[in-house]
Amino acid sequence: MVDTLKAEALRAIAAATDPASLEDVRVAVLGKKGRVTSLMRDLGGLDPEARKIRGAALNLLKTEIAAALDARKFELQDNALAARLESERVDVTLSARPTSEGRIHPISQTIDEITAIFADMGFAVAEGPDVEGDFYNFTALNIPPEHPARQMHDTFYLPDAPDGTQRVLRTHTSPVQIRTMLSVKPPIRIIAPGRTYRSDYDMTHTPMFHQVEALVVDEAVHMGHLKGCIVEFCRAFFDIDDLPVRFRPSFFPFTEPSAEVDIGCMRSGGELKIGAFGDWLEIMGCGMVHPKVLANCGIDPTRYQGFAFGMGIERIAMLKYGIPDLRTFFEADSRWLKHYGFAALDQPSLAVGLSR
Ligand code: DAH
Repeated sequence: MVDTLKAEALRAIAAATDPASLEDVRVAVLGKKGRVTSLMRDLGGLDPEARKIRGAALNLLKTEIAAALDARKFELQDNALAARLESERVDVTLSARPTSEGRIHPISQTIDEITAIFADMGFAVAEGPDVEGDFYNFTALNIPPEHPARQMHDTFYLPDAPDGTQRVLRTHTSPVQIRTMLSVKPPIRIIAPGRTYRSDYDMTHTPMFHQVEALVVDEAVHMGHLKGCIVEFCRAFFDIDDLPVRFRPSFFPFTEPSAEVDIGCMRSGGELKIGAFGDWLEIMGCGMVHPKVLANCGIDPTRYQGFAFGMGIERIAMLKYGIPDLRTFFEADSRWLKHYGFAALDQPSLAVGLSR
C-alpha cells in the first residue's frame, strides 16, 4: 500500500511539467486532504505496535515525497531559466550596422582630416565668433581703416555693437589669431577652422565659405618651420608623398615676409589632377607673423616670432574629392550628399586612413 502510493506519487511528480501541476501533486498527496495525510489520520485506529511500524513507514514516505517535490521544483526552475536565457539571448559579437542614410558633409570631413593631421603635429583647435569686431578682423591684423585690403574683402557690415564698436561678419579666420594671442601666452600652436563671409557669388565664390587658420608663436620660430609644416600638411592631406610644394613671395598686411603656396598639378582636357606634373596651383597664403601684430597682442616681437597660414576649405575639398562646383556644397541636395558624403563611422585618422 505504502509502496504503491510512493510509486504513484513519484511518477506524478516526474510527470509535472510546470510549478502549478507540481503543486497539484503536492496537494493531492501531502495536502490536508491528501492521501498520505488521510493515512496518517487512520493511524489512530491501529493498535500501538502496528501504529508504531506504520507511523514510521508513513513518516519516511512523507519525507521522501517532500524531497522529490523539492528536487522537481528546482529542476523545473532550472529548465525555465535555461529556456528564458535561450530565448532572450543577445549576440553581442554582432558588429554595429548603421541603418541611417545620413552622410558626413565633405566640409565636415575635410575639417576632420585637417584636424587629424595638425593634431598629430601637436596643434590644438581654437575657435572664434562669426560676428566679429572690426578690431579683431582688421585693425589688430595691421589692416588700419582706409587700408585697401578692407575694400578687397567685400565685408558684410553689421549694425554697431552697443558700445559703439563696428561689427562685421568675419571675412577670414585670421581674427582667431588675435583672440588666441590675447588670451594665452606663447608657446602657441593652434589651428582655427570655421565659417567666413564675403559679399560675393559666382562659380568660385559663395557669401559663406570656410577657412582654416594656423598660428605658431614661440622663441626662435623661423621660415624653415613654416615651410616644413606646410609641406608636411599638403603631402599628408592629398596623400601624395612626392607632391611638389612651392613658396612664392606675396603680400599680406599681417605677415612679413609673406608667401603664397602652390602645389603641383596637371590641367588637361578641362580636368585638374594633383601631383608631380609640372604645373602649379595656388592653395594658401602664409608668412611670418608681422611684428606689429605680435605687439598689438601684447607679445614682445624682440623675443617671440610666429608663423601663420590660412586656406579655403572648400577649395582643397574640391581638389581632393573632384567636386566641380563650389555652389553645390550649400544647396543641401541629398543626392549630392549621398554621392560626395562620407560614412558616419569612418572617422579620419592618420593611423587608419584619412578618407576611406
Ligand atoms: N587671411 C587671408 C585671407 O583670407 C589668408 C591668410 C594669409 C592667412 C596669410 C594667414 C596668412 O594666416 O599668414 O586671404
